[in-house]
Amino acid sequence: MARYLVTGGAGYVGSHVVLALLDRGDDVVVLDNFSTGHRAAVPDAAALVEADLADGRALAEVFAAWKFDAVFHMAALSLVGDSMRQPLHYIRTNLGNSLGLAEAAVRAGCKRFVLSSTAAVFGVPRILPIDEAAPREPVNPYGESKLMVEQGLAWAEGAHGLRSACLRYFNAAGADPAGRAGEDHTPETHLIPRTIMAAMGRVEPVTIFGTDYDTPDGTAMRDYVHVADLAAAHLAVLPRLEEGSVAYNLGNGAGHSVREVIAAVERVSGRAVPHTVGPRREGDPPVLVASSARIRAETGWLPRHDSLEEIVRTAWNWHAANPGGYAGRVAQAA
Ligand code: UFG
Repeated sequence: MARYLVTGGAGYVGSHVVLALLDRGDDVVVLDNFSTGHRAAVPDAAALVEADLADGRALAEVFAAWKFDAVFHMAALSLVGDSMRQPLHYIRTNLGNSLGLAEAAVRAGCKRFVLSSTAAVFGVPRILPIDEAAPREPVNPYGESKLMVEQGLAWAEGAHGLRSACLRYFNAAGADPAGRAGEDHTPETHLIPRTIMAAMGRVEPVTIFGTDYDTPDGTAMRDYVHVADLAAAHLAVLPRLEEGSVAYNLGNGAGHSVREVIAAVERVSGRAVPHTVGPRREGDPPVLVASSARIRAETGWLPRHDSLEEIVRTAWNWHAANPGGYAGRVAQAA
């Protein structure tokens, strides 16, 4: 049986990675400071360490207490808009924490590292879909911070034998099809959950950020990829690390506009989505669509929930079953 450390395992993508590992019988240790994650998102079957990645002593203790086959590093600040307002904080936190973690792993002899990276490393693409050869030219500090981590890890392979997989998620969306985990951010800024919450009357109407993009309906397009498919990709890349470091773009290869997302939520829910139109959001590229040909060819990974309809349906089910998010679950159990 293998054992893995998952930083940010109480967060949105992390909690789905934890479920995927536990489902196949692996041992999991979650490290999270609960700045955005939820204690209730961590299954009892996983060991839990509440610590901040900036705490070098706590990190050393974790690596002394357990021997890990690999580290999955998902803990990070991850909001594009926020990063435009706090660039130094974003870059310091994401870069410093990631490099400190990689150093601790190397010191402990753990040489396999899977990084939550992002489509935001590519900035405004010149060619679509975006493959791994596309120039990495971020247009926001969030993307910049992840690019810096990718580059640090690349140097660490030669010097320390640390093999890394940089997984560049496009737009993570949806929820565990079995309903065990889902998306719960405060405040919620992501399009799909916000649109669902607006349809449910839990938040004010959704604002469409920009209707003057050079796209068929004038709104920005994104490649929404199911969070359970993202989680499966983390497991799929592990055998590849035996040959060397890799970087993969992870999406479905289809772009959906903001208006298409609103229409999908209306179809799935049978409710109207109250919405208004506003200006573009700073730092937003017009269109992001992934080519995931490389990870498919090299690992056999295939998205299983690739329709926008299914992505929205699993997200809807999660929000309908958990009106107060994880906090509501805890209150219900008490
Ligand atoms: N949008 C709206 N109204 C909203 C929220 C979002 O119009 O209320 C639009 C955005 O402008 C964007 C699209 O919907 O065009 C998706 O926005 P999200 O905030 O859901 O997601 P982002 O594309 O900004 O960012 C997400 C992750 C990042 C990651 C990026 C990669 O949050 O971490 O996907 O594509 F880098």
